[in-house]
Parts: sequence; structure tokens; C-alpha cells
Amino acid sequence: MNNLHPTLALPAIQSLAADDMAAVDALIRRRLASDVVLVNQVAEHIVAGGGKRLRPMLLLLAARALGHSGPDAHQLAAVVEFIHTSTLLHDDVVDESDLRRGRKTANALWGNAASVLVGDFLYSRSFQMMVELDRMEVMQLLADTTNAIAEGEVLQLLHVRNPDTAEAAYLRVIERKTAVLFAAATQLGALLAGANKSTQLQFYEYGLRLGYAFQIADDVLDYSADETDLGKHLGDDLAEGKATLPLIHAMAHADDATRARLRSIIEHGDGDALPEALAAIHATGGLEYSRARSAEYARAAEQALDGLVENDAVAALRGLAQYAINRNH
Ligand code: IPE
Ligand code: IPE
Ligand code: MG
Ligand code: MG
Repeated sequence: MNNLHPTLALPAIQSLAADDMAAVDALIRRRLASDVVLVNQVAEHIVAGGGKRLRPMLLLLAARALGHSGPDAHQLAAVVEFIHTSTLLHDDVVDESDLRRGRKTANALWGNAASVLVGDFLYSRSFQMMVELDRMEVMQLLADTTNAIAEGEVLQLLHVRNPDTAEAAYLRVIERKTAVLFAAATQLGALLAGANKSTQLQFYEYGLRLGYAFQIADDVLDYSADETDLGKHLGDDLAEGKATLPLIHAMAHADDATRARLRSIIEHGDGDALPEALAAIHATGGLEYSRARSAEYARAAEQALDGLVENDAVAALRGLAQYAINRNH
């Protein structure tokens, strides 16, 4: 909590953004359309699953924080959600996940090829929509962002089943695969509001730090959530041999015998060993440590907003930093 500055809770944030989000939702639905039936089916399936719509909300609130709203913000909010959705379709193929947003994944229902290809459809649709705005700074930022996301995903692949993945390497991966899209969303809000470069950078930093906090929280939830709340299977990361912060912490602090055992679990992507990995994580305080790191990033995100003229939207952005780390899904 930051006592010096006003903060909004999630219901107040949602009602503040409700009209804008309804417009974005309508746009998302309209722009999903394709005359290829399978595209519609797969895209509709993942979009109808809902999702928190956090990235578009961040973009809208960043714009509102600087007094801007309008169709261009709705358009770019839909763009960032399409980019996000396409990465989810691809991610579930790579991670071999079969549950997302409380439903079977597209890859489980239609297979890997359909998921990858419809992911490409959404990704390229997002670029069609972005180009419609005809603003070079916007295109530059989103081109750089999507390129960094792709690098992050490949970098992560290089660490799969690698028990020597260190915290610094983990942070490099999450910056690219997750945080840069949050950063782009909030910078775009500022850019649309006509902010100068230094204010845009302030919003970029807020989003980047929030993105770190958000992904670390996601990685904690993968070991600790209620599966029904989460809408994803627990232990997906372990089963894939992905060493995330709770496990990295356990590797660094467990006794020699446990560490050797964890090494083998990671090397084999042994999902059946989830209880054992959890025991080691609990014994070393891996979840508490990760939650504390996540909270530090959230605090730093809020600090990036210091100096702005306070209004409801700024208070909402502070509230979202808290939500990112306290959510249950
Ligand atoms: C999931 O993102 C992927 C991560 C970066 C952890 P979200 O948790 O925002 O997914 P939805 O859109 O709400 O389903
Ligand atoms: C997020 O990582 C990857 C993306 C940026 C799409 P995860 O693999 O942890 O995301 P979830 O847990 O499957 O949503
Ligand atoms: Mg995944
Ligand atoms: Mg995850």
C-alpha cells in the first residue's frame, strides 16, 4: 500500500473503465471476423473465455490519467489484447497446456496447427488495425514490442529443462515475454494523450515494472492457486521443465540431496513430482520470497507514477499494481 497516494480497488477501477471497455469489447468481437470458419471458431473460443483484459484496461487508464479517451484508444486497446491473445494461443502449444480461462485450450480441441495458425491470424489482424491509425511512433513501438516478445519466448525455450537457470536469466525472460507488452500498453496510452517523451517513459516504466510483478505472481499462482479460480492447471510450469522463481529459489536454498532431486525433476520435466517440488519450495520459503519480489516490483511500478497530477485514473493504475500481486487468477 502506498499511503501517500490515493488508490482504487478493483470494482471501482472496473466501473471507471466500464464504458471504454465495453467499446473495446465490441471492437474485439467485430474485428475477430473472418470468412474462414475455423478462424472464427478458434478465435471466438478463446475470446469468449474472457480473460482479465488487463492490458487494454491499462492502455485506457494511462490515456485517461493524462485526460485522453476516444476511438484511437479503443482501437489500440483492442490491438494489445489481440497481440496478447495470439501469444496465448502460441504459448499453450509450446507449453502443451490443455486448460485456459476455465476451458479446454484451442490446441486441445483443434490441435497445434490450428492454434498456431489462428494465433498468426490474430497477430496479423492486430497489425492491420494498428496500421489503420497511420502513426509511425505507434507502429515502431508495437513492432519493437512484438519482436521482443518473440525473443522472450525463444529465450525461455532455451532454458526449458535447465536446472541452472538463475534468477537473473529468469528476469530477462519475463521482461521480454510479458513485461514489454504491459509497458507498451501504458506508453501507448500516454502517447495518444500527446505526452512528451519523458512522461511516456514514466508510463513505460510503470507498465514494465507492473509486468514483472504480474508474471512473478503468475508463476506463484502456478504452484499455489485454486485450479478452478485460476482456470489453468497447476504445475504446468514444472511439467514443462520451466524453472520459475519459486523453484529457482528452492534450488538455491535447498540441502544438497533435495537440490540433486530437484535438478533431476527439472531435467525430466517431471510433472508427477509436483508434491515433492512443492515440499522443497515450501521448506525454502520459495513462495514467500517470490511474493515479496513481486510486491517490490509493484511498489516500484507505483513509484513510477509519482509526480503525475493525481486523478481517478492514476489512482486506478496504482490499484492495478496492487491487484496484479494479490489476485487469485
Ligand atoms: C497470461 O496472462 C499470460 C501471462 C503473461 C502470465 P493473463 O493472466 O493476463 O491472461 P488472461 O488474458 O487474463 O486470460
Ligand atoms: C506467459 O507465460 C507467456 C506469454 C507471454 C503468453 P506462462 O506460460 O506462464 O503463461 P500461462 O501461465 O500459460 O498463462
Ligand atoms: Mg503457458
Ligand atoms: Mg503461467
